[in-house]
Amino acid sequence: MSIKIQTLSGYLHEYQKSVLEPEAFWNRVAETFHWKKQWDKVVDWNFEEPKINWFVNGKLNITENILDRYMYTHGDRPAIIWEPNDPSEASRTLTYKDLYEQVNQFSNALKQKGIKKGDRIVIYMPMVPEAAIAMLACARVGAVHSIVFAGFSSTALADRINDCQAKMVLTSDENYRGAKVIPIKAVVDEAVENCSTIESVITLCRTGGEVIMKQDRDYWWHDVIEGESTICEAEEMDSEDLLFILYTSGSTGKPKGVVHTCGGYMVYAQFTFENVFQYTAGDVYWCTADVGWITGHSYIVYGPLLTGATTLMFEGIPTYPDAGRFWDVVDKHKVNQFYTAPTAIRALEAHGLDPFKGKDLSSLKVLGSVGEPINEEAWHWYHDHVGKNKCPIVDTWWQTETGGIMLSPIAGITPTKPSYATLPLPGIQPVIVDEKGQELKGNSVQGNLCIKYPWPGMIRTTYGDHDRCKQTYFSTYPGMYFTGDGVKRDEDGYYRILGRVDDVINVSGHRMGTAEVENAINEHPLVIESAVVGYPHEIKGQGIYAYVIADDSQRSAASLENEIRATVNKIIGPIAKPDKVQIVTGLPKTRSGKIMRRILRKIAEGQTDNFGDTSTLLDPTVVDEIIENMK
Ligand code: PRX
Repeated sequence: MSIKIQTLSGYLHEYQKSVLEPEAFWNRVAETFHWKKQWDKVVDWNFEEPKINWFVNGKLNITENILDRYMYTHGDRPAIIWEPNDPSEASRTLTYKDLYEQVNQFSNALKQKGIKKGDRIVIYMPMVPEAAIAMLACARVGAVHSIVFAGFSSTALADRINDCQAKMVLTSDENYRGAKVIPIKAVVDEAVENCSTIESVITLCRTGGEVIMKQDRDYWWHDVIEGESTICEAEEMDSEDLLFILYTSGSTGKPKGVVHTCGGYMVYAQFTFENVFQYTAGDVYWCTADVGWITGHSYIVYGPLLTGATTLMFEGIPTYPDAGRFWDVVDKHKVNQFYTAPTAIRALEAHGLDPFKGKDLSSLKVLGSVGEPINEEAWHWYHDHVGKNKCPIVDTWWQTETGGIMLSPIAGITPTKPSYATLPLPGIQPVIVDEKGQELKGNSVQGNLCIKYPWPGMIRTTYGDHDRCKQTYFSTYPGMYFTGDGVKRDEDGYYRILGRVDDVINVSGHRMGTAEVENAINEHPLVIESAVVGYPHEIKGQGIYAYVIADDSQRSAASLENEIRATVNKIIGPIAKPDKVQIVTGLPKTRSGKIMRRILRKIAEGQTDNFGDTSTLLDPTVVDEIIENMK
């Protein structure tokens, strides 16, 4: 029996216990899972190295807690309901028994292709049940999956494959996205040209589109599973063996591989899913994210399936074939919990109320929001028109690094407040610090958000570079995990996330490092230097504004801007394309050569004066020129 909070006093009580005796608390949660061998110690940690070991010496396989566990108790319950991109194509349902068989079969196929415990496998796939099957099969045989969102370019894919030295890529022929068909196998082909560690590529036939298959490297999914048994013994994993690597952007350098391990992640993903969404048996839960992001990992696949839930997987986009698609899907599958991003809400809000006509949304019980701050207007629209004033909104704050939800209301239990992630989940000890690292105690304070005690789902390291993990998260405020977010705690003790305080921008709920976009822009042969900042964007939350010094003697500014966008598209992918490109002759720099981004941010926001202290500026006329030229 899992631990499920039922009342507000129950929450307060569990929270208290989790802070006073964290080990006893997590011990109790972990005991609700199947372990091959019990742990010796709940947690062994310090934030200096950092060393974070949960359920020390415990042995398990996460898939046994999904497949073997529910196959016998409710094998005929739907595990995954899949809704295709095109509404005229039939949806698919996989029961827990189907999932058991298909995961095991694919696990055997992986072994046949030489995959062993510890090998890395990159997954670059559309939103189809086979993506979840691929993840679970990796976990079953002890391979470490690293999913790359199928919208990333071949260069970005190759970088990730090389960083984790993957042996295999799993993909499909093509990917349907709204009215577009994207040939993703071709992207993989281009990427692996530059990846010497890749031994094989397995391709799922999704569209039947044409692909090139390379002899002795490329195999069809349907061929490799042919004749394989539907029984495959689960590999015994240590609690701290790697489960997956997921690349995410930071304020400097290339994206880093966030490492999550088997035991702690399992416990945390399940506990947070069941409690935050108040999932009850028989409910249909739908998270609209892509499995390429952490939300898809924890709250499409692992959290729900570890709970024995029915999780809906949607291949398409909110506006195809029209802006009523989400509501069609809710109606068609009688969705009970719906979890999406503020960007999607704002985009749909712009279409007005017509798309709701004729759609029965009465099955909805809980609405969730994730990925970026939700503005009050969007919150109310979501509450009124989607939830019909009867569904609590859980505004869930968390990160790729946290593995699972950290601050959030418990649906129907914690009183909500628009734009507030409200309170920490049991086991989470947030602190607000000022610039100097002094903890700001009490209510009505604002500062940087840190966490002072470990939790089972937290990042263990950045793949291949432990020092980077230490520098990024544990050295700004020694002894604490630093989130990179600004936060306010109001007079009721409720938390409101204010956004990133570092050089990370959040575009449509996707994390982008400004340095990463700058590096891509700088690849254009005529670009001399660039500076990228975020600016408020009505739909996307933040847009990307690029100031670029370039040799414009050979091109018009307009064609240069387009070429710069195309360069970013090629190096990272469409999600990183700047919304605005401004060709400038200089950037505001200090005497020591540092770009004053603060000023660029203000200009991007539309401010033309009051830049604060500009006395360190090397050449103040640069600023006037940028403003003039912007007009
Ligand atoms: O700035 C916060 C924002 O998204 C960042 C984490 O991004 P990522 O690792 O891609 O994970 C997104 C999905 C969990 C955070 O540092 N963020 C996430 N959720 C919220 C949020 N900002 C405000 N409110 C949220 N609910």
